[in-house]
Amino acid sequence: MKPGTLIKGGTVITASDTFAADVMIANGKIAGMVTPGNLDDLSRNQEAFEVIDAKGKYVIPGGIDCHTHMSLPFGGTTASDDFETGTIAAAHGGTTTIVDFAIQSKGGAMRAGLDNWHGLAEGKAAIDYAFHMIMTEANPSALDEMADMVREGVTSFKMFMAYPGVFLVDDQQIFRAMQRAGELGALITMHAEIGLPIDVMVQKALAEGKTAPIYHALTRPEIAEATGTERAIALAEMAGVPVYMVHLSAQRALERVAEARDRGLPTYAETCPQYLFLSEDDLRGDPGDEWKGAGYVCTPPLRPKHHHDHLWRGLRNYDLQVVATDHCPFCMKDQKELGRGDFSKIPNGMPGVETRLHLLWEGVREGKISMNRFVEITSTAPAKIFGMYGKKGTLAIGADADVVVWDPNREKVLGKDTLHMRVDYSPYEGKKVIGAPSHVLSRGELVVQDDKWVGKQKQGRGQFVRRGTFGL
Ligand code: URP
Ligand code: ZN
Ligand code: ZN
Repeated sequence: MKPGTLIKGGTVITASDTFAADVMIANGKIAGMVTPGNLDDLSRNQEAFEVIDAKGKYVIPGGIDCHTHMSLPFGGTTASDDFETGTIAAAHGGTTTIVDFAIQSKGGAMRAGLDNWHGLAEGKAAIDYAFHMIMTEANPSALDEMADMVREGVTSFKMFMAYPGVFLVDDQQIFRAMQRAGELGALITMHAEIGLPIDVMVQKALAEGKTAPIYHALTRPEIAEATGTERAIALAEMAGVPVYMVHLSAQRALERVAEARDRGLPTYAETCPQYLFLSEDDLRGDPGDEWKGAGYVCTPPLRPKHHHDHLWRGLRNYDLQVVATDHCPFCMKDQKELGRGDFSKIPNGMPGVETRLHLLWEGVREGKISMNRFVEITSTAPAKIFGMYGKKGTLAIGADADVVVWDPNREKVLGKDTLHMRVDYSPYEGKKVIGAPSHVLSRGELVVQDDKWVGKQKQGRGQFVRRGTFGL
């Protein structure tokens, strides 16, 4: 094995710049970038390099998916990808770091939740990973424990206004956690749908015999998310801290974020590919097969198509900072099945960790976002917001060599048999995309080439990323 790698002849794309350069990698880090041709004069020892030909291709930082749920126990079952299968799939799609959610169990300690998640990931993850902590209680000991989490590199916490009896926490707990996060330099991320009235709507629909998957959307209206978003922003403003909305799905919630940002508040938000490419129509299933919609049950629900344009505009004008996936796959067989006859029992979530870059590149091809913005929302912004920038999220000398050679002409038909996620369907079955990774490097090691795993080791090669505090 040669000590270094040279990615030759490509065009480097970062969040801010586009330039032709040969990229040198040594010891797992970016060692240099040189204008094409000049390397021949500078280095007399080119045999020392493994050469990757990137002519006609783009060289971009590896994707960072800051919202995944590997092995999540949810809705009476467990997400079908674990840290091994899910991270291998991620790498095939050009993502080289994930941030997954550890869980403080109700009445339990965060320490146990974090240890549990380290146990799930260690020895399994194929690419680097970090954790957020889901806070199900903000009692005095949990508020104390937040400091331990931050010290150990878990510098963001997710709280839920939704899922009564499972994850929901009240405003007082959210406010206390926000104040504590402010003291610690941590970030509170929010699932901002108001779950208590949603629950009433769900019970009413079921009592009326409305059991099909589409009722998942009809009982979780846009206003429930917009109101939760507004409330979370108000709480963060009162606490004097930043806040980050996860999986924002709809126009009115986005308007709340935009208003807050216009007032100068440090409000951040992510959306997900499913809210940009899929719609409530998918949740209706096919004529004569309304159950097919179960594969599209996620929370917040898919919205009518007109929301797509608003979200793309939000990405363009910086009201939305990040596209993550909320990867949380459940198989149709045995898992989504749990909700046949009762939509509220369909496990919530969809596969997505592998298809994020493919789908977003369609936005580049259609002129909805620039290539630089593509890099920013899929890698640079999540690295900055979640305390990894410098090590991850850009191509700069000294950064981890998490690098994707992106072939803008490579075609792929998305489907359960062409993708690597451990799930028995794809929400994008048959969709042709143009643009895909030809090479994926994780800390300098070529792990995926032409859609095949070529790394020396899969299981357990990923390392835990200890994140810094909120630095924006
Ligand atoms: O449907 C979803 N989003 N499942 C995962 C849990 C969550 O709320 O993120
Ligand atoms: Zn959520
Ligand atoms: Zn989620």
